[in-house]
Amino acid sequence: ATQTPTQDTSLSPEGNPLGFGRMLRKEDARFVRGQGHYVDDVNLPGMLHSAILRSPYAHARIVSIDTSAAEAHPKVKAVITGKMLEDLKLAWMPTLSGDVVAVLATDKVRFQGQEVAYVVAEDEYSARDALELIEVDYEPLPAVVDAKHALDPDAPIIRDDLEGRADNKIYDWEAGDAAACDEVFSNAEVVVSEDMIYPRVHPAPMETCGSVASLDKVTGKLTMWTTTQAPHAHRTIYALVAGLPEQKIQVISPDIGGGFGNKVGIYPGYVLSIVGSIVTGAPVKWMEDRSENLMSTSFARDYHMHGEIAATKEGKILGLRVHVLADHGAFNGVAQPTKFPAGFFHIFTGSYDYPAAHCKVTAVYTNKALGGVAYACSFRITEAVYLVERMVTCLAYELQMDPAELRMKNLLRPEQFPYMSPTGWEYDSGDYPRALKEAMRIAGYEDLRAEQAARRARATEPGADPSTPLMGIGLSFFTEGVGAGPRKHMDILGLGMADGCELRVHPTGKAQLRLSVQTQGQGHETTFAQIVSHVIGLPPEDIEVVHGDTDNTPFGLGTYGSRSTPVSGAAAAVAAQRIKDKARVIAAAALECSVEDLEWEHGRWYVKGDPSQGKTIAEIAMAAHSSLELPEGVEGHLDASVVYNPPNLTYPFGAYICVVDVDPQTGAVKVRRFIAVDDCGPRINPMIVEGQVHGGLADGLGMALMEVIAFDPDGNNLGGSFMDYLLPTSMECPSWELGETVTPSPHHPIGVKGVGESATVGSPPAVVNAVLDALQIRHADMPFTPAMTWRALQGRPMRP
Ligand code: CDP
Repeated sequence: ATQTPTQDTSLSPEGNPLGFGRMLRKEDARFVRGQGHYVDDVNLPGMLHSAILRSPYAHARIVSIDTSAAEAHPKVKAVITGKMLEDLKLAWMPTLSGDVVAVLATDKVRFQGQEVAYVVAEDEYSARDALELIEVDYEPLPAVVDAKHALDPDAPIIRDDLEGRADNKIYDWEAGDAAACDEVFSNAEVVVSEDMIYPRVHPAPMETCGSVASLDKVTGKLTMWTTTQAPHAHRTIYALVAGLPEQKIQVISPDIGGGFGNKVGIYPGYVLSIVGSIVTGAPVKWMEDRSENLMSTSFARDYHMHGEIAATKEGKILGLRVHVLADHGAFNGVAQPTKFPAGFFHIFTGSYDYPAAHCKVTAVYTNKALGGVAYACSFRITEAVYLVERMVTCLAYELQMDPAELRMKNLLRPEQFPYMSPTGWEYDSGDYPRALKEAMRIAGYEDLRAEQAARRARATEPGADPSTPLMGIGLSFFTEGVGAGPRKHMDILGLGMADGCELRVHPTGKAQLRLSVQTQGQGHETTFAQIVSHVIGLPPEDIEVVHGDTDNTPFGLGTYGSRSTPVSGAAAAVAAQRIKDKARVIAAAALECSVEDLEWEHGRWYVKGDPSQGKTIAEIAMAAHSSLELPEGVEGHLDASVVYNPPNLTYPFGAYICVVDVDPQTGAVKVRRFIAVDDCGPRINPMIVEGQVHGGLADGLGMALMEVIAFDPDGNNLGGSFMDYLLPTSMECPSWELGETVTPSPHHPIGVKGVGESATVGSPPAVVNAVLDALQIRHADMPFTPAMTWRALQGRPMRP
């Protein structure tokens, strides 16, 4: 029997206010019917397929490559090596952080899975078969796998392609006042130090990376369908690398099945598909498989952190200092604004009020795939929040103080905003104690602590059941900084981080909004239409959102770091406001009154004192395109285009509480409850925000409990498939309990802050703090797989 789907009446047209509010996602009609259009769905007449030969070694010299047998394969159209690319000056390309990376290795391979040769064939199977016919003679070299040994005097030099390289250091970078911090530490009553690792994890998007390149020899135009979160930035980089003018390159990013930071950089496969199309004269598709994605595309984190926190005996925090060893892999491919090589790590002072902070970050090369992307976070804020939230919890452990009480004592107070952090970040707005109180209220925090105390007391009684789960309660409070960013401070490869939008209201009152940001599943087609609807009152259904196509959208830096709504969302609101202002002038002309005589109600300008005399935006749109006489200097039509340069980041925040039960006999961790109170300013679409938070919480739980890309001592990747690299499923997730507070951003035109990644940033420390609370241990490193948790319980060192 068929079931009528239950209707959430708040989503029905009657219950759906124009503009902000719950509204079903427009894009889901195609997604839930399997009608999304992904890069792998692009099939062009005469299209060829391709595959990449990858290095089995983490570090080896290439002695020779013999491609003759592969070339003789009847279905092979071209075999390309690094030597051939050298002749075209394409063997190396820039990374987003100004390093270079090999498109195909020429001299050495520097990580397992690195691109060595490329085959174009009539079909994908023949291309992959032909890879096996290529003979490469490698001379294996010792590999640098442990970042802690990358700077040893006898460590092999990985980047001997760079002139004058005598070691594996990429940079030393610091922020904060070291001397003032040392002073505070030397006089502090309590100092707690801890070493911790944020392990190497992978964004693992649903769709792997790929591209279809088609060079039209008649027009000289290159069309590129590709999995990118930043179509315009990619086009500029292709223009620079290939020497083609930008107007001869069209980058199209259709549905891309998630990005999470993995699709910000440019991978050799994309460039190779272009080379393949140039060489064969046909369109060429390249799609990597899951193992290729996990082994060779950008990782995240891999931060080895040493933190020290200073406080009074009563628990007033005085300072925090940190030293980080950052493992960037074999090529520095992090995607951070140029001025900030460690991303926004120096926001590590977190949500607390104390004067002294200093951090130093040392980045090194290792024989691993290039890493350090902003995986569901704003440029290393995830690592920063983990560090401070663990350190504060360690301090509570040391002082024998309740971690909620310690946090409450030190949280920034509402009257301190806008707040300048000791490392130079101006937090825009917040009411932190309110958010923490709300999370504690939902959790029933006092009762949970009472239950925990009773359980612990029972466990010490004679005859207590040794299999009784250990209960743990973990808290975290996070501040994110999203919406990068002000142009004068933030650029990627010299491109300032402003974003554009164009809004056209057609004569019949239907509208089109063209954006430079690119959705990967966050629901932009719905929420950006809602932003415009909120300002000018057209129904969201009548506003089509266009993105992911450089020929049809204005320039901008794309979607990552939850920047779409803070930056392009602001652009859309400003464009809509301009339309509203112009509509007023046109309405005044049509109603034969002065502009000052008009008042606004949602979607309509009307004459003060006579509401029956008015014009809706749709009527004004028609008038704007008609023969109506317009005042001097007012052009016809109803269009606006905006480039938005954000004055500051927006600072969403939240309070999370996690309750776990740990099986003392197996080490299995069960997340019993998870309470998340998020504040991202007004919610454009609360249903989408909740979905974003659900996804981020699952993601964070995965990092805390199961995700890690480990390597053996030879540099073999031990996480190259979903059998080894575990992702959380609904089985591991509790039913999330969400709450909210609303503190608008004072500088965003409609007050909204980003939210896409808040939960990924805030949840790992909450889960880890809960597990360690259950174990009654000050610190152990994640992920808390059953084996790792069991080892920690025995007081043994943890090893991934
Ligand atoms: O850049 P990205 O889209 O990943 O992140 P975001 O700007 O934080 O937005 C994620 C989704 O949540 C988008 O559909 C936003 O428009 C929506 N959102 C919202 O409805 N209300 C907010 N206050 C913030 C975001």
